[in-house]
Amino acid sequence: MAKLQLNSLQKKYTPKAIPVKDITIEVEDGEFLTLLGPSGCGKSTLLRLIAGLEPPTKGQISIGGKNVNGVAPGDRNIAMVFQSYALYPHMSVAENIGTALKLRKISKSEIEARVGQVADKLGLGSLLDRKPSKLSGGQRQRVALARALVRNPEVFLLDEPLSNLDALLREQVRAELKQLFKQQNKPVVYVTHDQTEAMTLSSKVAVLYDGLVQQLDPPSRIYTHPANEFVAGFVGSPQMNLLVLKCEEKQAILGDFKISLPKLPTVPPHIVLGIRPEDIRLVELDNSDAISGQIYLIEELGKENLVSIQVEGSQLLQRKQDKKREKFEIFALENTKIVVRVLISDDNKSLQEGDAVKFIIPPEKMHWFDVKEGYRLN
Ligand SMILES: Nc1ncnc2c1ncn2[C@@H]1O[C@H](COP(=O)(O)OP(=O)(O)O)[C@@H](O)[C@H]1O
Ligand SMILES: [Mg+2]
Repeated sequence: MAKLQLNSLQKKYTPKAIPVKDITIEVEDGEFLTLLGPSGCGKSTLLRLIAGLEPPTKGQISIGGKNVNGVAPGDRNIAMVFQSYALYPHMSVAENIGTALKLRKISKSEIEARVGQVADKLGLGSLLDRKPSKLSGGQRQRVALARALVRNPEVFLLDEPLSNLDALLREQVRAELKQLFKQQNKPVVYVTHDQTEAMTLSSKVAVLYDGLVQQLDPPSRIYTHPANEFVAGFVGSPQMNLLVLKCEEKQAILGDFKISLPKLPTVPPHIVLGIRPEDIRLVELDNSDAISGQIYLIEELGKENLVSIQVEGSQLLQRKQDKKREKFEIFALENTKIVVRVLISDDNKSLQEGDAVKFIIPPEKMHWFDVKEGYRLN
């Protein structure tokens, strides 16, 4: 049992630089947790705290129920894989993979056997004598992984390990990683800013922003039920439409259309409606229950189009808000535009910019957020 527990962790460099504010997370054996967030949100800092490369300002880290605050990195039995791979250029692949075992004074024959085994698993068996400079990016990446696996650590930490690979290779290795770590049955903490990686690899995703966990859930839940406006806007490509709407009685106003609000204790003056581009349905022009608009832009993606629709009679409301959310005002810009993802079919392949269209937003696909604080309301 090597459950990893982070309890109220904080890392403060200066009073203004606090990349980790207050983070509590548990990762069980066999769980693959991804830390997902924009660049600079504190992902690598959190990983370095777990690895023991830096001490936390506050909070506890424990592995297998044992507090490891103050335990040196080498004694934590954690393996870390970096984006840069950090291979030793003067050592062969075999030496690079086996170096941590050598430091642990394991016999030469056992090292050879374990290195061989892991190398075979990662398709490196024929490259054991090469130097890193004679390897492709994908092969170097595998060596870095092999070096982590061969140690049989209690916890795996990976910091954007695929980001130096080109797109095709990244997809391949991503699929392999998933298989590889399933067999290990250890806690894995994987850092990425790439939501596809997070969604495909993880059993749980922690979306980080502003030094805090914004949401900690299985990937599908993050996608279908984002906990706040930040998560809603960060996860999903193309991005979720997020519209600031004025409320009147129990309805939100979008152009000349009124949308029923979810149950709320009081009706706020404004609200944010989130709707994913694939959840909006284009309908016939004679549909009187639909919202009217005009096509502003069509982006062709092959089997589908992204259609930007300017909503008739509506004004796009924007917020002006300071960081502490004290000052707050709402002002109107040009017409509201909504992006719709349309699978190309015989019915819609002739759509053109400038065409009048009608669309429906299914109520069960609506995400509602507080206009000031961003938390989910439904
Ligand atoms: N040693 C340091 N001193 C001061 N600030 C730092 C230090 N290390 C990282 N930071 C800051 O902490 C923030 C988070 O960095 P990092 O954890 O590397 O982000 P991420 O990995 O999510 O891109 C950044 O704003 C970075 O400038
Ligand atoms: Mg980083």
